[in-house]
Amino acid sequence: MNDSQYYKLCNDVTIEIKKATLGLIGKPEAGEILRIGADGTPTDKIDDVAENAALSVLENDGRSMLFISEELGEKRIGGKPEFTFVLDPIDGTFNAVNNIPFFCVPIAIGRSDLSDIKYGFVKNLVNDDIYFAEKGKGAFLNNRKIHVSNISEISKLSVLSYSHRPNAMPVNNHNVRRVRVYGSAGLELCYVAAGLFDAFFDMRGMLRITDIAASKIIVEEAGGMITDDKGGKLLTPLNVRERLNMIASNGFVHDELLKTCVEE
Ligand code: IPD
Ligand code: CA
Repeated sequence: MNDSQYYKLCNDVTIEIKKATLGLIGKPEAGEILRIGADGTPTDKIDDVAENAALSVLENDGRSMLFISEELGEKRIGGKPEFTFVLDPIDGTFNAVNNIPFFCVPIAIGRSDLSDIKYGFVKNLVNDDIYFAEKGKGAFLNNRKIHVSNISEISKLSVLSYSHRPNAMPVNNHNVRRVRVYGSAGLELCYVAAGLFDAFFDMRGMLRITDIAASKIIVEEAGGMITDDKGGKLLTPLNVRERLNMIASNGFVHDELLKTCVEE
């Protein structure tokens, strides 16, 4: 497949997800818990509706692929998968259920782990912004090239930081200029790629590959850097039960930020 074929497939999936879920945004029934999903977290009605909409696009596509998705886990479509299609049907379910306008659909195309993602696509379901990147070809927002920021002074950084949870690795980044947490990691990472924020932390040991696989390549293609909490390359297998910590940044401050993670 070439980049325009990836784009079309991802876009078709997000169009159907949007159509299927529009009437549920902000409705109490959207948050009805149907079961525990393959990733070990609850599947709300809106997650289930979104995943089924995606599945029907992929099953009618005709290409064989391995479909990895938060709620169903893993499903082989066709006889001989050409690629792995990684989806979070809704990233930011709490926001969508409560009509907080910050949620998205992240899609990554890869093979077996986070190091071999070759295409990333994130659609903001509220305003239809599309972020995408193909390996070696740069990152784009609505077809306009994007780039990470170039701020290198800690005291001037705008940071997205998930660091509060009983087992979270403590982070001492109190000296930054501002900290925000919006509730959709996939979309927040795109804000780092676009240079609105300088860094993103998730130290809760809770991130799933479905939250970050798409945005990882978007950040990297925008000139940024993504590692685990020790500065190592992310090699997490494409399996929805895996959990990880990570730091994404504009690259200029990465080493400094790694020093703020203090293992107890
Ligand atoms: C959530 C978002 C959020 C993160 C939560 C996730 P979901 O994803 O990625 O940014 O903080 O831990 O659960 O559950 O809405 O797909
Ligand atoms: Ca989800």
